[in-house]
Amino acid sequence: MDYTIKLNSGYEMPLVGMGSWLGKDEEMEKIMSDAFDAGYRHIDTAFLYGNQKGIGKGILKVITDGKILRDDIFVTTKIWNTSHTYARAKEAIYENLRQLGLDYIDLMLIHWPMAFKEGDDIFPLDSNGKVIEGEGHFFEAWKALEDSIEEGHVRSIGVSNFNHKQIERLLEKAKIRPAVNQVEMHPYYQQKKLRDYCKEKGIIVTAFSPLGSPGDTNFRNKQMPNILTDPVLAEIAKKHGKVGFVERKIKIGNF
Ligand SMILES: NC(=O)c1ccc[n+]([C@@H]2O[C@H](COP(=O)([O-])OP(=O)(O)OC[C@H]3O[C@@H](n4cnc5c(N)ncnc54)[C@H](OP(=O)(O)O)[C@@H]3O)[C@@H](O)[C@H]2O)c1
Repeated sequence: MDYTIKLNSGYEMPLVGMGSWLGKDEEMEKIMSDAFDAGYRHIDTAFLYGNQKGIGKGILKVITDGKILRDDIFVTTKIWNTSHTYARAKEAIYENLRQLGLDYIDLMLIHWPMAFKEGDDIFPLDSNGKVIEGEGHFFEAWKALEDSIEEGHVRSIGVSNFNHKQIERLLEKAKIRPAVNQVEMHPYYQQKKLRDYCKEKGIIVTAFSPLGSPGDTNFRNKQMPNILTDPVLAEIAKKHGKVGFVERKIKIGNF
């Protein structure tokens, strides 16, 4: 799994990453050990996932065991929507470093373009259950990320869940252009226009939920189509000798 792609920052990013959303902090040290054994070198996490300490322990263990060098591991993390003022974004960058126990992060993203009310409440809601907007703006968070590169805390910076207009607005002010835009992308949501736009701007698009997130979560119901059992994709999988992947899903009946 040592295929990489060169980012506009000059650093190489391993093409295949291990997602850690929903991974529990206390399980992550073992999960990281299994992931490294399986060949993963790129791990994707976020302040929101609440599992960075466990991931940091897993990374420290492989390094101290002498199995993998820090420079051969690529860590992506993200700052959350409650940290879009410059000061809060700086704090969030340090907090991510502290939780992971690392002295630099390979890629730090703005998780979403919208700013929520600053504070400890991850989803600050008003009395009508609506999210309360924050005072910050992704321009400020971006400046903090740019400064973190100059300070040596972060190697590459990027965005997530940004549409092309938001990227365009960011590019008007940015000193450093985003290396990556991480967005939902899979056979049912191919994002062709966004991909074309990012390609033109030299921004690598990373797919999150590449299998359409078929697991049992609040974000889908069982009536929704499932990529893993799609007959067209099953036919393509068969043609390429990848049928086991689909069969496992059918066998456990998780759709
Ligand atoms: N930037 C963002 O806003 C954002 C948002 C979402 C995700 N992400 C990142 O992207 C990562 C991946 O997204 P995801 O977890 O939604 O997506 P995914 O990889 O599309 O789906 C994961 C689900 O696919 C099923 N699965 C995985 N491998 C399988 C296999 N070989 N056969 C059958 N089923 C399989 C599992 O279901 P079962 O549990 O039923 O086995 C698992 O729950 C996240 O962990 C996170 O790091 C980022």
